[in-house]
Amino acid sequence: AAEYEVWAAEVRRLADARGAVVLAHNYQVREIQDVAHFTGDSLHLSRIAAETDAREIVFCGVHFMAETAKILSPDKTVLLPDHAAGCSLADSITAEQLREWKAEHPGAVVVSYVNTTAAVKAETDICCTSSNAADVVRSIPEDREILFLPDQFLGAHVKRVTGRANMSIWAGECHVHAGISPADVRSQIAAHPDAEILVHPECGCTTSVLDLVSHGDLPADRTRVLSTGGMAEAASATRAPQVLVATEIGILHQLRALNGTTDFIPMNARAACRYMKMITPAKLLNTLRTGEGAIDVAPDVAARARRAVEAMISIGD
Ligand code: 13P
Ligand code: SF4
Repeated sequence: AAEYEVWAAEVRRLADARGAVVLAHNYQVREIQDVAHFTGDSLHLSRIAAETDAREIVFCGVHFMAETAKILSPDKTVLLPDHAAGCSLADSITAEQLREWKAEHPGAVVVSYVNTTAAVKAETDICCTSSNAADVVRSIPEDREILFLPDQFLGAHVKRVTGRANMSIWAGECHVHAGISPADVRSQIAAHPDAEILVHPECGCTTSVLDLVSHGDLPADRTRVLSTGGMAEAASATRAPQVLVATEIGILHQLRALNGTTDFIPMNARAACRYMKMITPAKLLNTLRTGEGAIDVAPDVAARARRAVEAMISIGD
């Protein structure tokens, strides 16, 4: 604890000296979640990146998130403590593949999850995150075909809640969330039959959880599909003794800090994102000391991508 205090004080001191705001995604290691000026889900962090007065943004998250911050604040310096922190979901579609897909569907509206590269966003009409994806799809006129990418599980969920028929979905997935399986759900529900259930829509188990609800095997009022930010709100409000959480396990630190009486249990305790965990306390400190690790997005790509991200931000969550 004393070591943490020394490190945290130095992080804050250097951040102040640089005029930097430190942002952390909910999947970061606990020390980084605690030291950051703001910790939250992708949409919340994008909004802060767009609005901050700070000169510099130090992004503790993965590459596409830091790129999104740079797209929104092109005049600011955005530092990512390790540029190798990628995302298997963002890697599941390239700009070239998207151009080919668009050519097969002329006139379609392209909706991209923020978990995409800047080059893919530049080919996109409107971005979305897990917390606003359904609202983004609802904002598109009914008669327009939609290409939704890259996450197949989020896409299937959005299609289910909006009832949208003319929507094609790219077959990408996040290796961490795809790995939270229907078998994990069955065994954890059997072990904790009275628990509330929070599921991230990127999970491979989302459809089977909702099938259990529709068959009456799980109570609808105890089962919710939410972004990581939505999970944090639900955690603050719940009085349930136990909550099963289907997403990357870094979120558990946030949920436990928000509510010390509920027992938050991972649906799959091995669901850790190795990319998120590449941002270590030592690398964050080094970034603040050296100012290295700036994110660069070519101005023409950034300008096209910005339209898609700003179109998303202008829609309520
Ligand atoms: P949210 O924090 O927006 O729910 O995103 C989850 C995710 O997988 C980001 O990598
Ligand atoms: Fe990407 Fe999945 Fe890691 Fe999120 S948890 S950053 S979607 S690989």
